[in-house]
Amino acid sequence: MSNANILLGVNIDHFATLRQARYREVGLDDPMVEPDPTALALLSEKAGGDGITVHPREDQRHIQREDVRRLRERIQTRLNMEMAATKDMLAFALEIKPESICVVPENREEVTTEGGLDVVGNFDRVKSIVEAATAAGIVTSLFIDPDSEQIAASAAVNAPCIELHTGAYANAYHGSGRAAEFERLVKGAEQAHGLDLIVNAGHGINYVNIAEVRTLPHLHELNIGHSIISRSVFYGIEEAVREMKALINGG
Ligand code: PXP
Repeated sequence: MSNANILLGVNIDHFATLRQARYREVGLDDPMVEPDPTALALLSEKAGGDGITVHPREDQRHIQREDVRRLRERIQTRLNMEMAATKDMLAFALEIKPESICVVPENREEVTTEGGLDVVGNFDRVKSIVEAATAAGIVTSLFIDPDSEQIAASAAVNAPCIELHTGAYANAYHGSGRAAEFERLVKGAEQAHGLDLIVNAGHGINYVNIAEVRTLPHLHELNIGHSIISRSVFYGIEEAVREMKALINGG
């Protein structure tokens, strides 16, 4: 089954990672501070990115809350804010009002998000976040592994969307487990679609594995960060986004 027009959310966190590696202690407006994630987000949109994704973390190791406020004011597409399932992050989301939030597990030690959200084990907490976001007009997505119980629980908490965690598939890409991981994603996408969930996917998607990832059924949007930011070092962010956008839709 081919997907009509899969959307691309550009995750710009790693531009902020680069900035924070040098300028942790300096205000964002100081002219020596670079790179500016907001300026790069605007270029990503210009190049065809359908939305901008950020993950303000509790430890503010990359995107700062002030970045999110600036993005909210300046981007023209959609802001998707990944967030831990905490009261503090929910309050911040309700202040910012991104078009969507994606609830992710958050472990302070990890370099990037490892493993999906346990919706089954945090049912009430996740449900209350979905309710609060929905009441504020924010679309909620849940970042989960392609696990049938997690998918069923995501529908049961009335989340409109899920983001299937493609990390295990991406890690298995060159190994013997790839076909099985891909099949798990296919089955997960089918199940979610059958439950009227919108199906997004993300994590570890790159310029090589996109050829297969894009064939997942019912795909609405892919959120991609590391590979695009890495490619932008050589080719610039506009070319990196344009190329990924073309590959996503079979170009
Ligand atoms: N989607 C979610 C929910 C994530 O947490 C991440 C990683 O921050 C991504 C997508 C993007 O992953 P990558 O940087 O590997 O493309």
